[in-house]
Amino acid sequence: MCGIVGVVGNTNATDILIQGLEKLEYRGYDSAGIFVLGGTENHLVKAVGRIAELSAKTAGVEGTTGIGHTRWATHGKPTEDNAHPHRSETGRFVLVHNGVIENYLEIKEEYLAGHHFKGQTDTEIAVHLIGKFAEEDGLSVLEAFKKALHIIRGSYAFALIDSENPDVIYVAKNKSPLLIGLGEGYNMVCSDAMAMIRETNQYMEIHDQELVIVKADSVEVQDYDGNRRERVSYTAELDLSDIGKGTYPYYMLKEIDEQPTVMRKLIQAYTDEAGQVVVDPAIIKAVQDADRIYILAAGTSYHAGFASKKMLEELTDTPVELGISSEWGYGMPLLSKKPLFIFISQSGETADSRQVLVKANEMGIPSLTVTNVPGSTLSREANHTMLLHAGPEIAVASTKAYTAQIAALAFLAKAVGEANGNEKAKAFDLVHELSIVAQSIESTLSEKETIDAKVRDLLETTRNAFYIGRGQDYYVAMEASLKLKEISYIQCEGFAAGELKHGTIALIEEGTPVLALLSDPVLANHTRGNIQEVAARGAKVLTIAEENVAKDTDDIVLTTVHPYLSPISMVVPTQLVAYFATLHRGLDVDKPRNLAKSVTVE
Ligand code: G6P
Repeated sequence: MCGIVGVVGNTNATDILIQGLEKLEYRGYDSAGIFVLGGTENHLVKAVGRIAELSAKTAGVEGTTGIGHTRWATHGKPTEDNAHPHRSETGRFVLVHNGVIENYLEIKEEYLAGHHFKGQTDTEIAVHLIGKFAEEDGLSVLEAFKKALHIIRGSYAFALIDSENPDVIYVAKNKSPLLIGLGEGYNMVCSDAMAMIRETNQYMEIHDQELVIVKADSVEVQDYDGNRRERVSYTAELDLSDIGKGTYPYYMLKEIDEQPTVMRKLIQAYTDEAGQVVVDPAIIKAVQDADRIYILAAGTSYHAGFASKKMLEELTDTPVELGISSEWGYGMPLLSKKPLFIFISQSGETADSRQVLVKANEMGIPSLTVTNVPGSTLSREANHTMLLHAGPEIAVASTKAYTAQIAALAFLAKAVGEANGNEKAKAFDLVHELSIVAQSIESTLSEKETIDAKVRDLLETTRNAFYIGRGQDYYVAMEASLKLKEISYIQCEGFAAGELKHGTIALIEEGTPVLALLSDPVLANHTRGNIQEVAARGAKVLTIAEENVAKDTDDIVLTTVHPYLSPISMVVPTQLVAYFATLHRGLDVDKPRNLAKSVTVE
């Protein structure tokens, strides 16, 4: 959700910014801009649309220092005027921002009478405020920035440049992610390490409410009162090849294909040499100590929570409740006496989930974050972390993170269950079962052409569709429908098959696509009954079934896997359905409209 890059002291500043923004484009892509100085003149270049549009306007833009931004609009439409960087009243100060300033209208009224604004963004008000303190009130740049930071409320990652001084970038953050990247003879700032991995793997964290003075040869961290803070750097374990598309047309397809490998990586990460499941004993104890697990998450990660609920409950003997983070941040329900909060988040940065974690920490509730990104905010601020080992996920539509989340929680469930002497846990040979899942996914992936052909007929022109299933298949239906919605823009609902007849079946008409998921031997026949009901009303039905319940007439048949893990293999054909439907509709698979991968605003 908005991406920031900055570089100080490198003659290739423009290239570094553009390449960094390309890597951050998944965070927002409605408009972008850069400000570059330190050459013969200063340049502010902005463009509506993708980074390619911006890049096309940067011929001859040279300098040693600059800041760049890719936007996901919150305040004001995606126009050039609203695109960052923004300038102060005189144009001297230039700012990029990720986040939401809550009191921007009050600031405008109280401090900025007579100022002229080009757009509607909260960011423009912040840079005018800094400019006012420096130019009208005569404060130094640092003092003006600090004074503004004491006034501004909300979430932000800021990178500020004084256009009269190409030697320094000032940054500050609160709630929104920002890192310092350490180069040789130059330094950088960025929203995430991926943007700068071409240049460096040395990074430095910034904590909330810290201000950092970044120069080519030094990095100084302070609190808002000017007290210096020591900070050591760390090495990011990212590989440049992890973030490339290789020969794939889209990241999403690459990430779908990586899922069997991710399953095997998880086996490696959570077993010892003897093949025994190993999870941090402190995490096992945290679950043992809890009388109820609360899973908090958003989007696809929320669905992964549902898909893991039955397994967690049966193996750990602990009830599991799910919460949508954005609902819980400001309204916590009545909790059990000994709750454990588990945050599931691919990025580890989702602001809605963080809001709940902040509350949980205030209330002294123990927490575990299950995330793909080591060192992410939700990982740092929770008591415990389990990693997904899925490698960077770049397509906005989450695929391999979902399957990795369920698999990681399976290791947790198994480890706790074994420690408790739970019979089902002892009998659950997770390593073996996950290997079968990996093979099952591989065989689905070899059926891409069949899936593609079926999807074209079913989904090329429709406006709406349904996924139906019961039990675990219902949970997969929720995720499958989200996937289809977010990239193909087909309005799709994931429905408990038996519930359809209580109202929603009214929407079924001649040709309505209904995709049915069937994996559970007890429930499959009931779902088949519901398929008959919709078919009788004209629905075009596509069935995806596991072998143990499959019939000759089923469209896509999957190898049978352990019931706890069936959401992992069952979701894969639905990911391919969404992918091919989107291609047939001529849309951008990796960057769907209106969405951002990492949602760092509430
Ligand atoms: C955004 C993304 C979704 C993702 C959700 C939660 O909405 O577009 O794909 O599932 O955020 O993200 P997280 O990083 O917390 O899993």
